[in-house]
Amino acid sequence: MPNLGVMRPVLEALDIEFIIELYRTYAEDLANVRAAQRKVLGTPEMEAKLDDVEAELTYLMIRRFRPELVTEVGTFRGWSTTWILHALRDNRTGRLASYDLIDNAVRAVPPELAEGRWDFHCGDVRKQCGDWAAKSDYLFIDAAHNASFARWYLAHLLPTVPAGTPVSVHDVFHHRRPLPFTEGAEVLRWLNRRDIPFFTAAPARAPDVHQRLTALRTRLGLGEPVHTGTDNPMLFFLLNN
Ligand SMILES: C[S@@+](CC[C@H](N)C(=O)[O-])C[C@H]1O[C@@H](n2cnc3c(N)ncnc32)[C@H](O)[C@@H]1O
Repeated sequence: MPNLGVMRPVLEALDIEFIIELYRTYAEDLANVRAAQRKVLGTPEMEAKLDDVEAELTYLMIRRFRPELVTEVGTFRGWSTTWILHALRDNRTGRLASYDLIDNAVRAVPPELAEGRWDFHCGDVRKQCGDWAAKSDYLFIDAAHNASFARWYLAHLLPTVPAGTPVSVHDVFHHRRPLPFTEGAEVLRWLNRRDIPFFTAAPARAPDVHQRLTALRTRLGLGEPVHTGTDNPMLFFLLNN
């Protein structure tokens, strides 16, 4: 059964005004998490993959939506995992279920962050049994970036996830349009067919949004980079199954 007890904010759109309000509301907590993440990134086991703005958006969305179960597909060494776990810790509720072919994240995620809120599943996510996705209140996808993997989750995973669930997909907008035959191209086509709007802070796709958020983050004292990447290619949307 899907989790029906989760508070979902009433949203007209996942847009820049909504995101600005999130930054203003959670600026102080975010500053603390950014400082903690700098320390995590300094450990030999960690390697950053998400860029700062998309990582912060992930944190902020989880704060606002307060999911009881976040599902993460693709951990690598756990950089996104630690951003998600910080948000659940700050919410004082919620668990994270993560899936990856490799288990490097288990050694890289600080135990005090994982304790009591993280379950890691090693193996091909396509072979996991049960209705694990149907229980998700927030779905984070950053795994294989080819079209066939995207076609798998668009056909088999997303239809089982409850309506209204926030979903994010990484590595879509390194350019204004995703390259043909990639995950990003498949996801955009799928969203277009269903008329589902998306949000991105990728400068290649949404330069105005990126500029506004950069200015806001500087005003809020969040301008100093945690990690050097600047593409922020992640795409965010709300499912409307
Ligand atoms: C780009 S990395 C994830 C980066 C991570 N989200 C971060 O922020 O550091 C992609 C990961 O997806 C995993 N992956 C690829 N195909 C997969 C599959 N079929 N099932 C589970 N994990 C998969 C890879 O092993 C790899 O660790």
